[in-house]
Amino acid sequence: MKAKKRIAAGIVLCIGMQLLSACEKKQPDAASKLHVGVTYYDKSDTFLNELILCFGEKLEEMDHKKIEVSMTVRDAAYSQRTQDDQVKELMDAGCNILCVNLVDRADPSEIIDLGRENHVPIIFFNREPVAEDMLQWDGLYYVGALSEQSGVLQGQLAADAIQKNSHIDRNQDGKIQYVVLEGEPGHQDTIIRTENAVNTLKSKGIELEKLTYGIANWNRAQAQNRMTQMIRQYQNKIELVLANNDDMALGAIDAYKKSNVTESALPVFLGVDGTDIGLKAVADGKMYATVYNDKEGQAAAMAKLAFALIMKKGMKEIEFKNEKYIYLPYEKVTADNVDEFLKAGIKLQ
Ligand code: GAL
Ligand code: CA
Repeated sequence: MKAKKRIAAGIVLCIGMQLLSACEKKQPDAASKLHVGVTYYDKSDTFLNELILCFGEKLEEMDHKKIEVSMTVRDAAYSQRTQDDQVKELMDAGCNILCVNLVDRADPSEIIDLGRENHVPIIFFNREPVAEDMLQWDGLYYVGALSEQSGVLQGQLAADAIQKNSHIDRNQDGKIQYVVLEGEPGHQDTIIRTENAVNTLKSKGIELEKLTYGIANWNRAQAQNRMTQMIRQYQNKIELVLANNDDMALGAIDAYKKSNVTESALPVFLGVDGTDIGLKAVADGKMYATVYNDKEGQAAAMAKLAFALIMKKGMKEIEFKNEKYIYLPYEKVTADNVDEFLKAGIKLQ
């Protein structure tokens, strides 16, 4: 059966659309090519670079099956205007699916209009548009993860660490003096991760004292700067660093490395993402834990959805929330299970 299908697929590829409708009568509109256009907010983002790489690999796996697949990637360099132009250019170049990681998650209207006018479905990813915008057209989808869960898991990991290691409360005042390194203001993951991490710690009976916070826009160098200022201000008082992502946790670790704080006076660092370098820092014992942002799952969901939209089949097998949303679960990563995640990464390369 499978072999027969494959042969049919070969013919479809050679002779094109006409035969396609003859062979697969149920899907007269199915295309023979999947040309994916991807645009993301900025090329400096570690997690997104890994996610997009992974997405390319998932698409490649689908190539040669029944359809010819290609992908074009654009960097919007923090400009929504640039990104709108890129979407137009990609559609003009023949992309029949657009995957958009918005620069400004509150400003997707231009892109939605372009999708509607050109009949090109849009899969938003990682930066979630507001719910009302998602209702503007039925060709809109979102693939990502639930911010709330990442915060809860980070809070649980921090609580575990504190309950198991009484020395984390270095001044033994019964409270944990902490700082937060935040991602971009207005990003769903910044606000919700922080809130849920802190509330989870409190719900576990941990007494907290917030010393300060710094905005570092997901960026390692910015986090290092912010952390350097905090160390100057609070000296050895900081016991816990909650970072909204791994790159910022690593920036904080960089700042400590350059300061003259002794090893025994280091705080506990927690991140989110499980990027390659993030996982390595957990394995090396530099970062206590992270929360895995399932890039493989998200990339596979995007590829499956793109394929189903173009082939006009398989949509029913996809598990949507509210018909448009696909959320992949986060997972806790500590020194105890980091090897499994490192191995999964190796398999991909
Ligand atoms: C978050 C991720 C960050 C950054 C951000 C970009 O989900 O944890 O590291 O990639 O998305 O939108
Ligand atoms: Ca303390």
